[in-house]
Amino acid sequence: MTRHFLNLSDAGSEAIEAMLNDATRRKTARLGQPKGVADSDAPLSGHVLAMIFEKNSTRTRVSFDMAMRQLGGSSLILDGGTSQLGRGETIADTARVLSRMCDAIMIRTSDHEKIEEMAHYATVPVINGLTDLSHPCQIMADMLTVREHGVALPGSQWAWLGDGNNVLHSIVEAAGLMHFDVRMGCPEGYDPDPAFAEAARALGSTVTLTRDPVEAAQGADIIVTDTWVSMGQAHAEEKLAAMMPFQVTEGLMAQANKDAKFLHCLPAHRGEEVVDAVIDGPQSLIWDEAENRIHAQKSVLLWALGRL
Ligand code: CP
Ligand code: NVA
Repeated sequence: MTRHFLNLSDAGSEAIEAMLNDATRRKTARLGQPKGVADSDAPLSGHVLAMIFEKNSTRTRVSFDMAMRQLGGSSLILDGGTSQLGRGETIADTARVLSRMCDAIMIRTSDHEKIEEMAHYATVPVINGLTDLSHPCQIMADMLTVREHGVALPGSQWAWLGDGNNVLHSIVEAAGLMHFDVRMGCPEGYDPDPAFAEAARALGSTVTLTRDPVEAAQGADIIVTDTWVSMGQAHAEEKLAAMMPFQVTEGLMAQANKDAKFLHCLPAHRGEEVVDAVIDGPQSLIWDEAENRIHAQKSVLLWALGRL
């Protein structure tokens, strides 16, 4: 069976734990080396990852490329607009061709159905580099980051402030699988898809939705936010106004636990979802979080290719 990574549940708790442990081990083992040097075992030597971008990216693009280099392999990029996908070649035919030419596919796209279709027709692993529904690779890096900073995932309290979007969906999915709790602070009209919370609750996590940002933040170990306007969404003044009470300020951080950590997947819109004093402050882990995209995705690639 080809191992696709469209959502965190495709891997499951045990494999996620193994990936996080492997990421920490590999990250430690290569400390101090130039970033493009391969790990000593070069486990994906000769392997090529095809990356398809139908939306913009900085971190996902660079981190997957660096991940492949560090695993001894390489990557290539297809831009949605300049490949034949942009002229109407089907996802199914693209998947079949790339499966003959490359060892794995990473795709960033809009509708989640597109990545499901790609996985259906591909005979090599398909990895989700963000869809409108979810961003599982980001949350692998987030979990790696909080663990590195001394927060055990089981029982930890996460608070989300802002839009009920793709990143929140993957956090809630992770909560169920890795046994932590999430308080989702979202203004009315911008709720996440309830299916993620229902699945996490069925696995024993406490996932609550509140309209009160202070209630969401109180007692949290981790405070997370993201842009109020995701790629592909309209920049509506009405939405920004509704989000404003959920801005992560120093005052809101003070409601969380004293040692609470701040996460943001980036890119940030400083002065909108978060103020400079928080994102640049002592509780912010954003640069480790960004770097950890490389380390976490190396393990995702190894898992998908059956090496973990
Ligand atoms: N966090 C993240 O996925 O960043 P990019 O959009 O730059 O890839
Ligand atoms: N929610 C954001 C995440 C960007 C990495 C978006 O989809 O644009």
